[in-house]
Amino acid sequence: MTDASSPATATAHANIALIKYWGKADDELIIPVTSSLSLTLDALYTTTTVRFGIDGDADEATLDGEVVTGKAYNRIVDLLDLVRERAGITDRAEVVSVNTVPTAAGLASSASGFAALAGAAAAAAGLELSDRELSRLARRGSGSASRSIFGGLAVWHAGTDDDSSYAEPVADPTGLSGDLAMVVLVLDAGEKSVSSREGMRRTVQTSPDYRPWVEAHAGHLASAMEAVKNGDLERLGAVAEENAAGMHGTMASAVPPVEYVTDQSRAALAAVKTLREEGLPAWATMDAGPNVKVLTRASEAERVDARLREMLAEVAPQLGTVVAYSGPGLEITRPDTREAN
Ligand code: DP6
Repeated sequence: MTDASSPATATAHANIALIKYWGKADDELIIPVTSSLSLTLDALYTTTTVRFGIDGDADEATLDGEVVTGKAYNRIVDLLDLVRERAGITDRAEVVSVNTVPTAAGLASSASGFAALAGAAAAAAGLELSDRELSRLARRGSGSASRSIFGGLAVWHAGTDDDSSYAEPVADPTGLSGDLAMVVLVLDAGEKSVSSREGMRRTVQTSPDYRPWVEAHAGHLASAMEAVKNGDLERLGAVAEENAAGMHGTMASAVPPVEYVTDQSRAALAAVKTLREEGLPAWATMDAGPNVKVLTRASEAERVDARLREMLAEVAPQLGTVVAYSGPGLEITRPDTREAN
């Protein structure tokens, strides 16, 4: 039996969207305008422990040993409230999170963070949730977190309401996900100036390119799914690159523009193109930050990484890279609370 005061720990891995989520149909429930497709990464993850029943009248949260405050704290409390409501408890919680993802640098820390929080909080509250329910719960913290419940390739169905908006694993008959790698070019590990939440709101409201991107999006997703079905990395890479470039185009024409792409990002994008001309499999994607993620074949990842570091040494001397492969889904560790007899 689990009582509400036993702690639970969960680990969730970051995911990078190959076909993006950018824009909400419902801000409160986090229902996206478009469905999205992602790859969960082994090297980037968050481990979170939640314990309900602490003294005091407020939740407490730390991330990498620092007390979480402000908006980030409020988002954690909101998710805990959903869990409390569902479990019928009012206890305050202690949340301890450790990240291997540079926070808020467009490296999907909110995806792994809220997936781990959803998993740990639900387990600590004694809730037995299915993966689909966990995906829906994580979505309420951060949309992209819905996909981090699953390993490998995951699709988040936009849906139209709380019940129908969830992620699930993508059928992968050729085992393509095992052949994929992502070389993450960390050009800037600092915090981004415009949050993805604000950036997407502004884009939806003001960019003349937003609707055309949404209209093209369904075709991008269908093409990507078809590519996965056929184990066709070239097609998957090409459509992922096109979809991300289109998304950043919508940001550029927002008023005022949402600017995540820096000169260094542009240099990295050009380097990826050069690699392709050299015959290496490499396609670029970017999120709500300046960093560039390069989709490649697992067997070529080290070579792609070495070439990119070489090519970018002058323009981005501070460059750090992470070579990541397909990672696992949410892992929940609930201490065994049965009494010995
Ligand atoms: C560009 O999931 O961080 O990474 O739902 O407002 O928390 P909220 O946004 P978030 O947005 C991620 C946007 C993206 C694309 C993607 O991951 O699909």
